[in-house]
Amino acid sequence: MTGSWLAFWDKPHAIYVNARHKDVHYRLIAEEIAALVPSRQARVLDYGCGEALHADVVAAACAELFLCDGAPSVRAGLAARFAGDGKIHGLAPDAIAHLQQNSLELIVLHSVAQYLSTAELQALLATFRRLIAPSGVVLVSDIIAPELSAAADVTALLRFGATNGFLLAALGGLTRTLFSDYRRLRARYGLTHYSEADMLQLLSAAGFTGERAAKNIGHNQSRMAFVARPQ
Ligand SMILES: C[S@@+](CC[C@H](N)C(=O)[O-])C[C@H]1O[C@@H](n2cnc3c(N)ncnc32)[C@H](O)[C@@H]1O
Repeated sequence: MTGSWLAFWDKPHAIYVNARHKDVHYRLIAEEIAALVPSRQARVLDYGCGEALHADVVAAACAELFLCDGAPSVRAGLAARFAGDGKIHGLAPDAIAHLQQNSLELIVLHSVAQYLSTAELQALLATFRRLIAPSGVVLVSDIIAPELSAAADVTALLRFGATNGFLLAALGGLTRTLFSDYRRLRARYGLTHYSEADMLQLLSAAGFTGERAAKNIGHNQSRMAFVARPQ
């Protein structure tokens, strides 16, 4: 499952319906992550960061920002985009384990858990538990509950498009998605869903005290976010 999804993210795709959509998406995520950074001295990891077009906004709020993505082409794009920014470091997933224990004040896993098996998420949470500072926070967000329908994603995208000037492009993009690899992969492998109770249980088993956040980050408020602190 994971390999197939990673192969999807590694190739050009049409998840963002146009350049404006991609730009406002990544700006919103960056601003919301930046707001969670506890201090200018903080070291932050954004795991499964994607193209992170506006990661400089997060970097401006912290001391060091580690951007990690499993797709080699995404990492190459990040390396080129942020080559001149000494605070931003691109990492492959294997390199995460070599970061210093208890050294990160904020770890973000946004819109990634649905592409991992539960065993993979458990392994990742165990790594995060080792890396997070005693007073640090792990944010696990964009979690899709079992009962949430794909229609909720459609409504959220159309609303986002309407408020950000790309409604027509969003309608076109949704039509393209119907015939895309994304749709085929989603039908074949599915996405991993978690109820609120499942997620709290997983976080607790990994050594965190978790709680559901009042608000998800990003544009889709029908998905859930969890704040996890080391026990
Ligand atoms: C939906 S995108 C989310 C990107 C970004 N976090 C955002 O919210 O815009 C999912 C990202 O997770 C990455 N990803 C998927 N599986 C991964 C894995 N096992 N390890 C690291 N990255 C992974 C993909 O390459 C892709 O860039």
